Amino acid sequence: MLRSVFLAAAGSARLGRLAVAAPISKSIAARFVAGDEADDAVRTSRRLADDGLAVTLEFLGAPTGSAEQAAATRDEYVSLLSRLAGAGLTPTAEVSVKLSALGQRIDDRLAFEHARAVCAAAAAAGTTVTLDAEDHGTTDSTLEILADLRKDFPDTGAVLQAYLRRTEGDCRELATAGSRVRLCKGAYPEPESVAYQSALDVDKSFVRCLNILMSGEGYPMIATHDPRLIAIGEDRARWFDRSAAEFEFQMLYGVCPEEQARLAAGGSTVRVYLPYGPQWYGYLLRRLAERPANLALLGKTLTAKR
Ligand code: FDA
Repeated sequence: MLRSVFLAAAGSARLGRLAVAAPISKSIAARFVAGDEADDAVRTSRRLADDGLAVTLEFLGAPTGSAEQAAATRDEYVSLLSRLAGAGLTPTAEVSVKLSALGQRIDDRLAFEHARAVCAAAAAAGTTVTLDAEDHGTTDSTLEILADLRKDFPDTGAVLQAYLRRTEGDCRELATAGSRVRLCKGAYPEPESVAYQSALDVDKSFVRCLNILMSGEGYPMIATHDPRLIAIGEDRARWFDRSAAEFEFQMLYGVCPEEQARLAAGGSTVRVYLPYGPQWYGYLLRRLAERPANLALLGKTLTAKR
């Protein structure tokens, strides 16, 4: 119930405008988001890299209702990639892109062209791009755009969501040589017709998908904070004789930082998903909705003396 309230609020532009102006929200956001500007993203990436962590950066810009906004998002990524290269942060830092932010809802072709420009900038900067997964209505279009991008940029990464019933099949398709695939549980409210609804069924699907990816020929990126699934990931790496260079763990900035440090200290590759940009409000509410205990953080911040 509380989760649905948070997720509904995450999509409200009016609440968003109010929240980004409030100092309380900003202080909570600082735990999960690098800041408003590319400078903040580069600075935080540097700190994480110094701690032995790889990074994938997402720009949180205005919701993409127009072709102008989609082009502005493309330009932001292109400029960020050149700054990351200039700061010596590539290939440690790559970027994650939502095709909806590049105009997918306006026209698939427009999103493809913008994504192509971002992939070209990433290649010039010596790093990679991963296409985030969004609601199930976009999955076919996203995987088609991915296949087209991979013709010129074969290291473009995909994201597959274990809660979708189709994902085992998608894992089989994508577990090929050179194919980078991030496996996550899935974050959007989805109907029973397309998605497993219980946490147990999602976890079981995650493990089946993980088995396919880890036994395949691609490069699996295990995106979870769930300690049981992380342990199973470590186990599968041993079973399938994968070295630390042949798969990675991924976690969100600000979530389970001790576990990120533990895995990295043990020799695993760990990549932190680091968002930045002015429109962090929706992202923040999705993170708070994922875990009721985060409400305690909200409460503490609201009652702290300022
Ligand atoms: P689960 O939600 O079961 O959490 C396991 C444990 O992790 C919790 O008990 C808690 O301890 C901790 N935890 C998890 N979330 C937390 C939070 N917000 N605050 C504090 N503690 C928390 N989804 C999607 O649909 N498309 C995408 O492209 C991506 N991309 C992506 C990239 C990366 C790097 C990650 C880590 C995740 C995504 N996701 C995503 C989100 C993913 O689908 C999922 O919603 C979250 O990762 C939470 O699921 P867990 O696997 O962590 O398990």
